[in-house]
Amino acid sequence: MEKNSVITVKNLSKFFGEVKAVNSINFQLRPGEVFGLLGPNGAGKTTTIKLLLGLLEPLEGEMRIFGLDPEKDDINIKQRVGYVAEEPLIFKSLTPRDLFKFIASIRGMDDMVASKRGYEYLESLEALPYYHKLIATLSHGNKQKVQIIAAIIHEPELLILDEPLSGLDAKSVKVVKEIIKMHTQDGGSVLFSTHIMEIAEELCDRIAILNKGKIVGIGTIDELRHQADKVGAGLEDVFLRLTEQDASVDEIVKKLRASYKNGRR
Ligand SMILES: Nc1ncnc2c1ncn2[C@@H]1O[C@H](COP(=O)(O)OP(=O)(O)OP(=O)(O)O)[C@@H](O)[C@H]1O
Ligand SMILES: [Mg+2]
Repeated sequence: MEKNSVITVKNLSKFFGEVKAVNSINFQLRPGEVFGLLGPNGAGKTTTIKLLLGLLEPLEGEMRIFGLDPEKDDINIKQRVGYVAEEPLIFKSLTPRDLFKFIASIRGMDDMVASKRGYEYLESLEALPYYHKLIATLSHGNKQKVQIIAAIIHEPELLILDEPLSGLDAKSVKVVKEIIKMHTQDGGSVLFSTHIMEIAEELCDRIAILNKGKIVGIGTIDELRHQADKVGAGLEDVFLRLTEQDASVDEIVKKLRASYKNGRR
């Protein structure tokens, strides 16, 4: 296992029955790096993240976070990680204010510091009016903002973000991207998943392109772009080709139209 790496994954696999959700993947996340897991729906991004957090048991392979084994040291690891889940896990019967206080207590933080940071982040995401509202009553995007703040408020060394920008409006997307950048400028590392090439390109130092549980491309944007140049295509085209999303949408729509004509209507 690599010494100077925040995350090391070796030959990691997880199957659900016949479905090879994660199929013998290898990658490393180095300190200060933003590493992207990029792939279409069902590629295995969330499964990889859940394995790393010790929320799922691997079929085979090795994982280390800060040199620790997520299967044995998950509590230790969780203290040093901020996690934004795909499905918000946050306590809906609390207000953001209560949640930030709760996080302060479990993370051993000063209550005033946590409240101040939470307040400032909410303000930056234009969600201050919801500070004293029950999380259950917030809109999807505003819940997502609270979840992101809850993950970063204790300034963890590593952020693991599963599609953190989903549901956010354009302005909030910009602010969250800046928060991610600031986190790494401060020495932190980030693992995040997305299905959008543009977002990965803008934010990531390195990307692993996932398709059907396998890593089909890995490297810096420049390295991936260089590979794309060699085959005479743009990066986006190569991403779509590697992830088998290059079938023309026109063709798909044509097929769909034909099936509608043949009996559904
Ligand atoms: N608990 C589960 N039981 C059975 N199959 C599962 C389970 N979780 C995931 N899968 C399957 O594993 C594959 C990978 O799913 P995963 O959620 O990791 O994809 P993803 O890349 O996060 O996709 P998305 O972009 O839609 O979030 C899919 O085929 C999915 O149906
Ligand atoms: Mg997912």
